[in-house]
Parts: sequence; structure tokens; C-alpha cells
Amino acid sequence: MALTLTRALEAVLDGEDAEALRRATARLIEVYRSGAPPEEQALRDPVSAAAYAAYRMPATHAAVSRVLRYAMEVAPDLAPRSLVDVGGGTGAAAWAVAEAFPEVASVEVLDASADALSLGARIARNGPPVVAGARWTRADLTVNSLLPQADLATISYVLGELPGDLPDRVVDASVAAAGVVAVVEPGTPRGFAAVHAARERLLGAGWHLVAPCPHEDACPLAAAGDWCHLAVRLDRTALHRRLKGGALGHEDEKVSYVVARREPAALPGGRVLRHPVTRKGMVRLELCRADGTAAAEVVSKRQGPRYRAARHAGWGDRWPPEGTDAAD
Ligand SMILES: C[S@@+](CC[C@H](N)C(=O)[O-])C[C@H]1O[C@@H](n2cnc3c(N)ncnc32)[C@H](O)[C@@H]1O
Repeated sequence: MALTLTRALEAVLDGEDAEALRRATARLIEVYRSGAPPEEQALRDPVSAAAYAAYRMPATHAAVSRVLRYAMEVAPDLAPRSLVDVGGGTGAAAWAVAEAFPEVASVEVLDASADALSLGARIARNGPPVVAGARWTRADLTVNSLLPQADLATISYVLGELPGDLPDRVVDASVAAAGVVAVVEPGTPRGFAAVHAARERLLGAGWHLVAPCPHEDACPLAAAGDWCHLAVRLDRTALHRRLKGGALGHEDEKVSYVVARREPAALPGGRVLRHPVTRKGMVRLELCRADGTAAAEVVSKRQGPRYRAARHAGWGDRWPPEGTDAAD
């Protein structure tokens, strides 16, 4: 039976030298801190790949899982049968896609790091069958940015690592190769800038947005010098705590993302841009809205179903939720 990613990581990484993993984790944190493309391959040896898997893979997996959930809420007809995971590393996005879409029958993970790929393949042996049977292909996007054909391309925590105009070329290549593209980056101003550039490029190619945007006009947050992101809460694994320390049992992974596809989707009325603020008898929602603007909506108890829906709304959710009688 397939293990959860957390259990699969424990099964594979348990015997690793903890001190070597801690040192490699500290180095990776330093490499990723600036958000700028690393000067050399970050996952350059087996211990760096193991450290990445232990301290980052649960978070990138949780982020991609949430992004896919939001995309499926807007486009319930999404049912990819094949995936190319671009810069897929140890395969976090491939796990998330396999779990979200049972129809997926073929997975290819492309990455420049042989150590990340071979560790990813070992972890995947304990995972969903389609991930266990994935192709793990060594490919340096700086040398060749062409991608194999697939229904879905995931580009997860990769664009920010690529130099010069390579992010643009990789987005163009994904448009040529796939029918749906999911770009995920850290929810920082820099991560958002990469996502926003990808959004503009995907729209420029005549594609349509699925999530998070409720419209295809200019992004009002980018125009205001703000950045669109959300926080995904996940439990810290025992392994993670051993490597990074910290008392909290959870972490909040900040994420910026865009999912787009060739066909239009029925976009929602809005999207929640911050943690909603609840006061006695009212909820204040900061929203991106279908008319292309960002503005607050205060929902009061007098609004009945809309108020009850607002009390359950979370940062990043569509608004109003479909299937409720919360419309105006
Ligand atoms: C931060 S990791 C993300 C890994 C995985 N997608 C995830 O979400 O956990 C960035 C990945 O991009 C890969 N990468 C960086 N530059 C690359 C290039 N020029 N060609 C192919 N892969 C590259 C790295 O080897 C690494 O595995």
C-alpha cells in the first residue's frame, strides 16, 4: 500500500547522518534566502538532495496540493492523464498531482540534479503507483528548454532559480507542451514577481486563467506594488524539527501561484486576499474581484447565509464559495 509522503520520507531518510543533514539544510536555507537564482546547482550532492527532501518537500507538496484544490474548485472538469513536472527535483509536485487526480496514468519528472532525481525515485517507490512508476529524466533547462508533451505541466519552486530570460522560455515551452500549467513560487515579492510574469506570458499566449485570479485583467495587486499570496499551514514532521529546530508543531508556507489552461474556465466572483477579520457580528474580507479591482467587503450578520459563508472563508479561498446560497 502507498505511504503518505511524510511516512515515505521517514522510511527513506531515517538512516541518514543527522549532523550532515543539518549542515546541508543550513546551507540550503542560506542559498534560498535571497530568492535569487543560485550560482551553482543547489542540490549538488546526495546529502543536499536528502536535506531538501526532509526540510522542504512536505511544504512544497502541501503548497501544490492546495493550489490544485483551488484549481479543481474553479475547473471541476480538470482531469489530466499525464504530467510533466518541470524542475521536479525529488518529486513533491508529482506526489501532489497523483493524489489530486486519480486519472493520471503517466508522470515524468525533469530536473538538472541527478542526486535529486535518484532520491526522488527512491522516495516514490513507497508512493502512489503512478509516482512509483514515474520517469525521472535528467535535463538541464539552460541547455534545452523544450518539454515533453503532457496534459499538465507543474513548475513548482523553479522559475525563481532560473537565470535571465529562461523563466519566460520555460513558460513558453510549457504552453507548447501542455494543456494546463501550474506555476508555484514562494509567497514573497520576488516569488510573486515570477508568478506575475508567468501570468502575463500565459495570457499573452491566448491562454485562460483558472486560479487564483477571478478575472483576466491587469493584476490590481501588482499595480499597487503589493504581492498576491496565501499561507498554507502544515504540520512539521519530526524529521523537519530535528533538522531545523523550532518549537512550533506547524509552519505556514507562503505561496504565490497561477494555474492556466488553453480553454476558458468559469471564474469565481472573487478571491480572499488576506486572513478574514472577524468582529462581533461582521466579517471583513479583502477581495480580488471579478471586475479586476481589489477591495474590502464587510459581511454582516444580517446577511444570513452570506455571513455564515464568510465566517468559514479562509485566505486564498474563492468568494463566495460555490454551492452556497451566499450570493448577494
Ligand atoms: C527549489 S527546487 C524545487 C523542486 C520541486 N519542484 C519542489 O517543488 O519541491 C528547484 C529545482 O529546480 C531544479 N533546477 C534548477 N535549475 C535547473 C535547470 N537549469 N534545469 C533543470 N532543473 C533545474 C533544481 O535542481 C531543483 O530540483
